[in-house]
Amino acid sequence: MITNLRGRDLICDLDFTKEEVETVLDVAWDLKRKRALGEPHPLLRDKVLGMLFFFSSTRTRCSFEAGMAQLGGHGAFIDSRTTQVSHGDTAREIGEILGRYFDGIAIRQCDWNYGNKYLNWVAEASRSPVLNMQCDKYHPHQCLADLMTIQEKKGKNLRGKKIVVSWAYASSYLKPMSVPQSLILQMPRFGMDVTLSYPEEFLLMPDIMEMAEEQARKYGAKFEVVHDMEAGFADADVVYAKSWGPMMTTTDPVAGKALQDKYKSWITDARKMALAKPDAIYMHPLPADRDIEVTSEVMDGPQSVVFDQAENRLHAQKGVLALTMW
Ligand code: CP
Repeated sequence: MITNLRGRDLICDLDFTKEEVETVLDVAWDLKRKRALGEPHPLLRDKVLGMLFFFSSTRTRCSFEAGMAQLGGHGAFIDSRTTQVSHGDTAREIGEILGRYFDGIAIRQCDWNYGNKYLNWVAEASRSPVLNMQCDKYHPHQCLADLMTIQEKKGKNLRGKKIVVSWAYASSYLKPMSVPQSLILQMPRFGMDVTLSYPEEFLLMPDIMEMAEEQARKYGAKFEVVHDMEAGFADADVVYAKSWGPMMTTTDPVAGKALQDKYKSWITDARKMALAKPDAIYMHPLPADRDIEVTSEVMDGPQSVVFDQAENRLHAQKGVLALTMW
């Protein structure tokens, strides 16, 4: 077990080695069990996590805040719009100053071609660890919860299990591509065969694709790309289908919406789920566009694990907090 995670940042999924991720999940399962038993676990008493949001959140905010309280510390919510961050506090100032107030700084900044840079600028200036609550490139804490959920449902040995990471249609807004990018980086390290499925215009970042191929090669997993939702679903053990924007093709919201609207048939429904293995699970990080991105029948059906997945945000993040912030 690799245990020297104190003070470490988690910005990219690959910042922690596979062995370090295993340590995080080991601690997460222990803390999940303790919470189930009502056993106090104040590992971070008197510690404070600053949680800086540039975008709205339900699960991420609530699970980090609850997690810090359960660990005996405090999560301080900071809204960029109601602080001087919106009037000119620079990333360096935020790193220098909040790094002195807080024992950890967690940030959600998803602006295209900026969010990840911002997190790294803060981290360079901060004496406390910086944790990524989602940027334009990665959503590593979501991915840790996803991995934990898959292992709970499919067993710890995931070698040869197929996950399809599929684009799905949504009408609400052009969502970040951080979730699929994190998934294709992390899952091959645990032996999963990854099929990435998307309409041609919805490609992911080329450097992330190269990194994912490298991880698959290194860990002896398959990695393939298809442009057909049904082909992607075929024989999958895990169906993870969500929308993301076509930012690699256009960053214009009107043109992006027009591209998105070409693919309204990319909805996860019972007919497509039947192409996967009979015991396949359906996953989504939420929020989803109901009956647009996925039918309510699937979302609320027996194959859906979305609520267990959302719960595991709490436990997986507590694992990271407990290991990095003491
Ligand atoms: N999955 C996720 O990050 O949810 P929120 O946007 O509600 O935090």
